Amino acid sequence: VNQQPAVINHRIVLARRPTGLPDDETWRFEQVAAEEPGENQVQVAVDYLSLDPAMRGWLNDVKSYAPPVALGATMRAQGIGHVTASNYPGIAVGDTVLATTGVQEIAVVHGADITPVDTGLAPAPTWLGTLGYPGLTAYFGLFDVAKVQPGETVLVSGAAGAVGATVGQLARIHGCRAVGIAGGPEKCAWLRDDLGFDAAIDYKHDDVYRALRAAAPGGIDVYFDNVGGGTLDTALAQLRMHARVVICGAISQYNATGPVHGPANYLSLLVNRASMTGMLIFDYQEQFPAATARLAQWYRYGQLKSREQVVAGGIERFPAALRMLFDGANTGKLVLRLDHQG
Ligand SMILES: NC(=O)c1ccc[n+]([C@@H]2O[C@H](COP(=O)([O-])OP(=O)(O)OC[C@H]3O[C@@H](n4cnc5c(N)ncnc54)[C@H](OP(=O)(O)O)[C@@H]3O)[C@@H](O)[C@H]2O)c1
Repeated sequence: VNQQPAVINHRIVLARRPTGLPDDETWRFEQVAAEEPGENQVQVAVDYLSLDPAMRGWLNDVKSYAPPVALGATMRAQGIGHVTASNYPGIAVGDTVLATTGVQEIAVVHGADITPVDTGLAPAPTWLGTLGYPGLTAYFGLFDVAKVQPGETVLVSGAAGAVGATVGQLARIHGCRAVGIAGGPEKCAWLRDDLGFDAAIDYKHDDVYRALRAAAPGGIDVYFDNVGGGTLDTALAQLRMHARVVICGAISQYNATGPVHGPANYLSLLVNRASMTGMLIFDYQEQFPAATARLAQWYRYGQLKSREQVVAGGIERFPAALRMLFDGANTGKLVLRLDHQG
């Protein structure tokens, strides 16, 4: 009998729920036969995986905006890959696509849940960063939630990351003063010298309160918060009248083993008639095509720069690569490249 050998899929599943930073025991590496696509489904060989701070939240068995990843299930992740088989009209073998593939080499997804990716405009990793969810998060957080106006002062934390770097650049494009907070002199130099931030504060070495007073003497109109904790408190203490605080994330708290550090200076919202609003990018799904087109245009004309840090080596690198986000080892968007084992 002339049978083709089964195609092997390697994947990472959740083995146990972590306390604090997810260690290697959190995960299990599995080798299984690749699934074939059913009706309206597409099989994708994953080339790049997005590493996201939100992944930490998906590991907790608590009510959230998305269900937790189940024990024994493939870890949830966004990926970009090439189509290897398609039962969906309009999607062909060889197409480069974005989908929720999970942390595995070969994914089967519904054709309706796939977004084509234009690698002629930008390489695949950029579509997971500045032109993907992080860029869209920056866009809607700034323009829809904060309703930022030209001339205003925008402060962003996690500024040298995927979302933060885009926030500062969009603020500059919009005619604002952009101040970033990031860890380390190299990241701060990159923000100022390459991305055009007006000022950058190194929270690991500077006195953030004082540095902020110097960088934004008149106070802050918009604080785009990616880190929470003490930085949020420091920013709250320096709001201007009618300031808007966007709660995008709180990475400093994601691995907390005790109570989350909440803001003490919240009465600054009262004094300044300011607001603090949480945002979730998935609420803007219908507006993604229009926003992506605008981001892509700024990118094409060089007004919006993108940087990705690509970790090579395949699926087994996932546990260590995820931890990089929590010790600031990434500058720009952190992406895992899969070198298929076949
Ligand atoms: N609400 C939404 O819909 C939405 C969507 C996407 C992302 N987010 C959130 O946006 C934030 C940024 O996400 P991203 O994908 O762009 O990640 P990222 O900023 O590219 O990577 C994470 C960065 O966080 C910083 N960090 C880590 N631990 C920290 C700590 N204890 N204190 C301060 N900074 C710390 C590190 O930079 P340093 O070297 O500067 O410390 C690290 O590089 C996250 O909070 C994420 O959850 C929210």
